[in-house]
Amino acid sequence: MERHCVLVATFLLMLHIVHAQDQIGFISVDCGLAPRESPYNEAKTGLTYTSDDGLVNVGKPGRIAKEFEPLADKPTLTLRYFPEGVRNCYNLNVTSDTNYLIKATFVYGNYDGLNVGPNFDLYFGPNLWTTVSSNDTIKEIIHVTKTNSLQVCLIKTGISIPFINVLELRPMKKNMYVTQGESLNYLFRVYISNSSTRIRFPDDVYDRKWYPYFDNSWTQVTTTLDVNTSLTYELPQSVMAKAATPIKANDTLNITWTVEPPTTKFYSYMHFAELQTLRANDAREFNVTMNGIYTYGPYSPKPLKTETIYDKIPEQCDGGACLLQVVKTLKSTLPPLLNAIEAFTVIDFPQMETNGDDVDAIKNVQDTYGISRISWQGDPCVPKLFLWDGLNCNNSDNSTSPIITSLDLSSSGLTGSITQAIQNLTNLQELDLSDNNLTGEIPDFLGDIKSLLVINLSGNNLSGSVPPSLLQKKGMKLNVEGNPHLLCTADSCVKKGEDGHKKKSVIVPVVASIASIAVLIGALVLFFILRKKKSPKVEGPPPSYMQASDGRSPRSSEPAIVTKNRRFTYSQVAIMTNNFQRILGKGGFGMVYHGFVNGTEQVAVKILSHSSSQGYKEFKAEVELLLRVHHKNLVGLVGYCDEGENMALIYEYMANGDLKEHMSGTRNRFTLNWGTRLKIVVESAQGLEYLHNGCKPPMVHRDVKTTNILLNEHFQAKLADFGLSRSFPIEGETHVSTVVAGTPGYLDPEYYKTNWLTEKSDVYSFGIVLLELITNRPVIDKSREKPHIAEWVGVMLTKGDINSIMDPNLNEDYDSGSVWKAVELAMSCLNPSSARRPTMSQVVIELNECIASENSRGGASRDMDSKSSIEVSLTFDTELSPTAR
Ligand SMILES: *[C@@H]1O[C@H](CO)[C@@H](O)[C@H](O)[C@H]1NC(C)=O
Ligand SMILES: *[C@@H]1O[C@H](CO)[C@@H](O)[C@H](O)[C@H]1NC(C)=O
Ligand SMILES: *[C@@H]1O[C@H](CO)[C@@H](O)[C@H](O)[C@H]1NC(C)=O
Ligand SMILES: *[C@@H]1O[C@H](CO)[C@@H](O)[C@H](O)[C@H]1NC(C)=O
Ligand SMILES: *[C@@H]1O[C@H](CO)[C@@H](O)[C@H](O)[C@H]1NC(C)=O
Ligand SMILES: *[C@@H]1O[C@H](CO)[C@@H](O)[C@H](O)[C@H]1NC(C)=O
Ligand SMILES: *[C@@H]1O[C@H](CO)[C@@H](O)[C@H](O)[C@H]1NC(C)=O
Ligand SMILES: *[C@@H]1O[C@H](CO)[C@@H](O)[C@H](O)[C@H]1NC(C)=O
Ligand SMILES: *[C@@H]1O[C@H](CO)[C@@H](O)[C@H](O)[C@H]1NC(C)=O
Repeated sequence: MERHCVLVATFLLMLHIVHAQDQIGFISVDCGLAPRESPYNEAKTGLTYTSDDGLVNVGKPGRIAKEFEPLADKPTLTLRYFPEGVRNCYNLNVTSDTNYLIKATFVYGNYDGLNVGPNFDLYFGPNLWTTVSSNDTIKEIIHVTKTNSLQVCLIKTGISIPFINVLELRPMKKNMYVTQGESLNYLFRVYISNSSTRIRFPDDVYDRKWYPYFDNSWTQVTTTLDVNTSLTYELPQSVMAKAATPIKANDTLNITWTVEPPTTKFYSYMHFAELQTLRANDAREFNVTMNGIYTYGPYSPKPLKTETIYDKIPEQCDGGACLLQVVKTLKSTLPPLLNAIEAFTVIDFPQMETNGDDVDAIKNVQDTYGISRISWQGDPCVPKLFLWDGLNCNNSDNSTSPIITSLDLSSSGLTGSITQAIQNLTNLQELDLSDNNLTGEIPDFLGDIKSLLVINLSGNNLSGSVPPSLLQKKGMKLNVEGNPHLLCTADSCVKKGEDGHKKKSVIVPVVASIASIAVLIGALVLFFILRKKKSPKVEGPPPSYMQASDGRSPRSSEPAIVTKNRRFTYSQVAIMTNNFQRILGKGGFGMVYHGFVNGTEQVAVKILSHSSSQGYKEFKAEVELLLRVHHKNLVGLVGYCDEGENMALIYEYMANGDLKEHMSGTRNRFTLNWGTRLKIVVESAQGLEYLHNGCKPPMVHRDVKTTNILLNEHFQAKLADFGLSRSFPIEGETHVSTVVAGTPGYLDPEYYKTNWLTEKSDVYSFGIVLLELITNRPVIDKSREKPHIAEWVGVMLTKGDINSIMDPNLNEDYDSGSVWKAVELAMSCLNPSSARRPTMSQVVIELNECIASENSRGGASRDMDSKSSIEVSLTFDTELSPTAR
């Protein structure tokens, strides 16, 4: 009796030691567990589970419903679900180059009370692992890690909110489950037993879960003796101590399964040990076949010693139906036998992870600045769909790791200095840290990143001077404006000057102009005749135009995003924007955030600021009206939110930002060429024309300007912020009297005087936009002799100074006839008398002529250029001069 007790005690002690040792390297995460309850030892397995605190910084803890609790293991009781964002990732520290068994458990258990089963994707780093679509499932893979971090991502693919209950990693030896380099996706793992006992840790030191399997044409063979299992696969004693043989000695032992799709490749691992004591003349020998085809043998299992027979290369089954048979050979006196079998499908992870150094560096940047954007999880570059906000990557060559090429952290509330961590983003080409609160000096290392040629540090609090390494770098585009404490060294001033206009040779055109002064007067006369003739014709829009203005005409189109329910609750808006994570900008009326509707369609969500919300009485009526306005050149309204103080407008997302950014070069370094500018301007004009003529009642935009012309991913221009004018005061860059609204510089002087708003006020503003595209100069520049752009252009034209008004970035690469027609049109739009301004219909026609002229560009002579230039300048001088305000 005493001996027995001692024995038990020793046994328990040993077991305890074994447990403690065996959990080395185990990662056992009970997702959603409160940190204060962590860690705990699970009663059945003795495994130590910890909370997922620190492995994921988003998501919410949940718990399965009471009625499911009795059936569930403790670690599955709690879970974490992810209502926000599309991709959410667990980030795990692992040992690199290690063979891991990785398990993720999903038990729905009606945790949300909605009683709708799950459906979402599970990703392994940047690669799809599997889809989770059943209420209670364990996903398992065996994978050799390449780096010391590993990401498991849950991806929302529809309305189903992703969740996870348990995440477990078990390091195994490298010589187990050897493949040709592929990872293994669990198909089944059974041991041959007529019981119903499942086996896992601590019986299985790697915590593999063994399910019993039996067929009624078999007999169970068992042993009470020790089976030597401490070899490569370290199988549990309880697994190997059982086996089966067919009841009929001559029968084959059959195992069948199917794979989907039928071409799926898989590996099988069969474990054998002879459990019976064979008599002298007995022999057990068999072959293994797959769908009747010999694969291994003849083989005799070793007495009480485990051996594993596995596929060296992956197999496939005809039609996806697999029949594995263990077939007695002629020599054998005993039936075939099998103890356990596992099978895995091959899982392909073709997408390479982002360059490890880049990942470390960007995470370092993230930590330094405490950036908590919802998209900044998982792999930074891939899959492309989940590229981190503000990053761009080079991912074109799928045989090398993606690299980070651009980092945009503008307007991200960054404080402190420019972090050293950026130094390790060695493939960076563009860096935008503008509009933050960064202090300290501009570090030297920015000049050391070879490919880095575009740096925007404007709008910060940087001090010191610009490092020479940056100033001297060839091709460098550096913007340091708006850093009041930054010393303007001689060098940096020179640099700034270069971004302004280079003095072009003014002399040649002027000489040319004088030379052709005679031709000029004739042309002038001709011009007036033409104008007079043209006027009556363009009084009303031509027929083709009327049709085009119709709401159902081919020109107008449905917005890209069509949703049935257009009224959203404020909480839906919060979800849509991921709690207002990503700011796109600040528009009239309020902040604009990036968001998603229907899971993946991008939208821009404008939150109407509280301060201005008192006057929004007509909000709903006006929005309902706007929802019916569809035109391909108007930014479509997708929906709205109207919950008391909380009001929001949801617009289609315009990937390429606003025109002003493109003109000023803050968006990218490309100069919009003349043809593109014309295309943008005619599209904007069409949008405006539609508001004036295609809508009933007609709408006046009231705030036409370059920041309200947005560009989509195809560079198609659309007007934003229209139609709210009637019940909304407009917040301009500077405050304007509440009676007269609009943006200074763009404001119709007649409206200013009379306070009487007409479509022609939009025409005036449009004229300013046109001049901006021609000149690329600020609308108001106090340092100019004539601060207002219209006056300035007017003066320049009277001087006959042609080149000096054109945007120098165009490098004189344009059809001058087209340019001068545009200048003339702009000036006519700016006529102080609204009655003498063209209608938007006329503007569209004229602009189309500019485009035609630019498109037919060929051998226009210099002589013609100067002629038309003076024609315009004189025209302007005599009748179109805007009055100063
Ligand atoms: C992972 O490793 C990093 C650096 O090695 C460390 O800072 C971090 O705390 C680790 N995370 C966890 C959850 O252990
Ligand atoms: C999963 O749960 C949902 C909701 O409880 C139920 O409607 C569905 O039938 C379940 N599916 C399975 C396969 O049990
Ligand atoms: C399992 O097989 C053994 C040996 O054949 C037999 O004694 C036992 O009754 C079987 N158990 C069940 C549940 O069928
Ligand atoms: C099994 O096969 C052998 C050889 O084919 C035959 O001699 C023997 O009678 C068979 N036994 C049974 C039980 O069918
Ligand atoms: C095993 O498979 C073979 C071939 O399909 C079949 O003839 C035989 O009846 C099967 N045996 C059992 C026990 O199902
Ligand atoms: C088993 O395999 C050996 C070697 O390929 C072969 O000679 C023998 O015929 C096979 N026996 C059976 C029963 O398939
Ligand atoms: C890589 O790209 C090539 C050509 O685009 C393609 O044929 C190949 O399948 C791709 N490889 C992987 C692993 O995706
Ligand atoms: C940059 O990378 C190197 C090597 O990977 C590392 O030693 C260094 O600490 C990193 N520097 C910063 C500032 O993170
Ligand atoms: C920058 O920091 C100063 C002082 O900490 C603060 O007053 C100011 O509001 C900050 N500006 C921005 C844009 O965050």
